[in-house]
Amino acid sequence: MPDLRARLVGGFISLIALGSGAFAEGIPEARTAELEHMLIQDCGSCHGLTMKGGLGSPLTPDALDGADADTLAYIILEGVPGTAMPSWRPLLSESEALWIAQYLLKSEHQE
Ligand code: HEC
Repeated sequence: MPDLRARLVGGFISLIALGSGAFAEGIPEARTAELEHMLIQDCGSCHGLTMKGGLGSPLTPDALDGADADTLAYIILEGVPGTAMPSWRPLLSESEALWIAQYLLKSEHQE
């Protein structure tokens, strides 16, 4: 049933487009791809490849339940003094940190 498959794939792609358009405003798509890569490579080294935690605390939507995106963005930018959580200010703008915070709070990207 190649037809059905094509429709499923098409539906999936429009879902992704919808999903990212809603919260990635102002950040070019090429940059959001880099941010996702960074989350896995850099954040993942402490928080786990699937954000379930490791040296760093779990960052799944469940674990962050109720957290406020602005607060998370602030933590990402400033780090947590006295812990292994570094400041990402040299690498991220405020809107990028907010994008990451909102990304972490969304459950759709989770497998
Ligand atoms: C070197 C290890 C390390 C790396 C790399 C790292 N973190 Fe962390 N992170 C931590 C630790 C440890 C904590 C817990 C700090 C504490 O005890 O409050 C933390 C806490 C956090 C929190 C707060 C979680 C909460 O429940 O309040 C967020 C959000 C966060 N990190 C996001 C990120 C993001 C996004 C990246 C990548 C850009 C990243 N971290 C990279 C170690 C790391």
